Amino acid sequence: MNDQAFALRQLMCDIAPKSDGAAGARVAAVTSGKGGVGKTSLAVNLALALGRRGLRVVILDADFGLANVNVLLGVTPAFDLSQVVSRRIDLREALCDGPCGVRFLSGGSGMRELTHLSPPRLGALMSNLRQLDDLADVVLIDTGAGVGEQVLRVVNAAQEVILVTTPEPTAIMDAYALVKGLAGEGGAPRVRLVVNRAGSPEEAESTFKTLSAVVRLYLKTDIENMGSLPSDEAVSRAVRLQQPFLISFPRSAAARSVEDLAQRFLDGEPPRKNGLRAFFKRMDWDKSPKDNTEIQ
Ligand SMILES: Nc1ncnc2c1ncn2[C@@H]1O[C@H](COP(=O)(O)OP(=O)(O)OP(=O)(O)O)[C@@H](O)[C@H]1O
Ligand SMILES: [Mg+2]
Repeated sequence: MNDQAFALRQLMCDIAPKSDGAAGARVAAVTSGKGGVGKTSLAVNLALALGRRGLRVVILDADFGLANVNVLLGVTPAFDLSQVVSRRIDLREALCDGPCGVRFLSGGSGMRELTHLSPPRLGALMSNLRQLDDLADVVLIDTGAGVGEQVLRVVNAAQEVILVTTPEPTAIMDAYALVKGLAGEGGAPRVRLVVNRAGSPEEAESTFKTLSAVVRLYLKTDIENMGSLPSDEAVSRAVRLQQPFLISFPRSAAARSVEDLAQRFLDGEPPRKNGLRAFFKRMDWDKSPKDNTEIQ
């Protein structure tokens, strides 16, 4: 993104005063069972909507496959988490500035490395990463899709989960599998569903009802309805422009829906429980795959 365009976007965003960030950051994972349902689009635009409301938001791109938050944000990060892991740079240097005061941390291969560090390295890294608790009010983690071990580890460690599905039965089935993969025993994160590409509000509502009924019947747990986004050409057009649709098409139906979702996100704020500190603790270091060599 060139400097002029960046400055213009910052101006357009009209950033409100920062909140004090005294408590740990609110850590929410944006995830899905099925791939390609709109996680990254939602994470980026929701982050911007929250940024406009004066929150300090950091997006952590934890997609172990194809990381693409940077593409949708229109920023090019110079570093990623792996350089923080290898202690070449401080976390603050790895944070990349995006529009609306939103900052972005690319996980790169660093997310995978996180799970098999030696205890001294881990301790040093964790105190580095905990700076995010002071730097951010909200950390949105864009995960890969599916129920693979790495994804589930990240999702389970988050305080809350924004689960994205489309109304398609295959996507709903995969969303169910994701909820099934969440830890039980009182440790499971709160799950809120966003139905993306809904044909109508009624279709979004019936998608939520279908999934929540199956989850309650077979998993004896509840998910909450966070809202929906319509299928909107503005989304794919913005992707092609490598811009968030909230900026390129602020009056689109998708942009209005994301504003509603941001409000619901804020209305449903859970009590903060040590933010990033708790997140990294819950990453479950002891369950690292045995075939991984420890990084010294
Ligand atoms: N509400 C929508 N209306 C129209 N098109 C959409 C909508 N949401 C997403 N798309 C389209 O779907 C594509 C995939 O979206 P996105 O990359 O956000 O999905 P994802 O879940 O992050 O995918 P992955 O699982 O590969 O990470 C976008 O490039 C966009 O073209
Ligand atoms: Mg994605």
